[in-house]
Amino acid sequence: MNLIEIKEGKVSLLVPNPKDYEKNGKFDPSWAPVFYNPRMKLNRDISVLIVSVIKPKSIIDALSASGIRGLRYYIEVGGVEKLILNDKNPLATELIRKNIEKNKVEAQITTRDANSLLYEVKAEFVDIDPFGSPSPFILSSINSVINKGYVAFTATDLSALECSSKSSARRKYDLICDKLSFSKEAGIRGLIAKVIRESAILEKAAYPVFSFYFDYYYRVVFRVESGAKKADNLLSKQGYYYECPKCGLREASEYLEKKKCPKCGIDMKKYGPAWLGTLWEKDFVEKMRDKLNDFSYLDNYFTINKLLDIIIKESKYDNPYYRIDILSSYLKRNIPKREYIIKCLGSASVTHFDYRGIKSDKGMDEVNECIKKLTS
Ligand SMILES: C[S@@+](CC[C@H](N)C(=O)[O-])C[C@H]1O[C@@H](n2cnc3c(N)ncnc32)[C@H](O)[C@@H]1O
Repeated sequence: MNLIEIKEGKVSLLVPNPKDYEKNGKFDPSWAPVFYNPRMKLNRDISVLIVSVIKPKSIIDALSASGIRGLRYYIEVGGVEKLILNDKNPLATELIRKNIEKNKVEAQITTRDANSLLYEVKAEFVDIDPFGSPSPFILSSINSVINKGYVAFTATDLSALECSSKSSARRKYDLICDKLSFSKEAGIRGLIAKVIRESAILEKAAYPVFSFYFDYYYRVVFRVESGAKKADNLLSKQGYYYECPKCGLREASEYLEKKKCPKCGIDMKKYGPAWLGTLWEKDFVEKMRDKLNDFSYLDNYFTINKLLDIIIKESKYDNPYYRIDILSSYLKRNIPKREYIIKCLGSASVTHFDYRGIKSDKGMDEVNECIKKLTS
């Protein structure tokens, strides 16, 4: 394998030379013998920030590829006493060995199936960064994390989670769903609910502490605590979202039902089981915001700063976002500017999920009144 050296964060990394794997002048990271995707740098940058808040002594990077995540946590956060870098692909672990030597990192390298490994070893922070869906690794990673430790999942199978593909939504996440106007948020809530259910099997409670959507993926972080009662309590906060495809009226309920819109009388769309609670733990996000100053060297520093700003604002509202463009079209009105709607509603904010959306604790009627007022 012909390698090139790149720099990401404070790590010098050897990766396969993309030029060798181009097809018709194009390159996809999955065509190389070992996977490295520069488009996921923001995901890794934010993960470094998250790990700096958690300060784990032990980390398992279960699907490590080049080793980049574990290496970055070790070097950029520090204090890691036990680091396991695992990948089932022997070419990946061969490359990880080169990369840990190059960066003078002490780590255990394993060439194992992640699931069997995660049933044998424990850590304070477990990172699951798969191709597509994290579902096959949820139970084992929750098993592997110690009490009050953390686990982070990346999901790139948004077509399942947003319910563009109903059959894979059902297969991977037990979702009975339609695509809703706030599908980006519904998707992350569907993923969280799945993790909560899998944790409950092990009598553990997985509290979502930080989540975000970016580009083509979700990243969700949980603190995992032992206790059947705690798990039951989280299970009771899942439910189903309903939305009228004609007027946008929405409801949330604990149960899966065939609901008709009380205004239009037609079948409402549905999505669930979804997590109905908060997506962000206030303390955790504030710590991230404080810690960010230590990472001003990151290329994505300003993007992360902006993302955290928006998340801090939107985290006040647990209701899914409203799409102003869609509600305006139902009302046959022009689309008012988001800032004007936010001002009109008084308690509302932008959302990082969608630049056309707003979050608010106000009902749809009040949002509609504002749209009418601003376009009259
Ligand atoms: C998306 S890549 C990981 C990317 C890496 N975390 C990063 O940030 O660059 C997924 C990796 O998981 C590995 N993998 C897939 N299934 C696995 C399994 N069951 N056990 C262990 N490794 C697996 C693949 O070989 C691949 O290297």
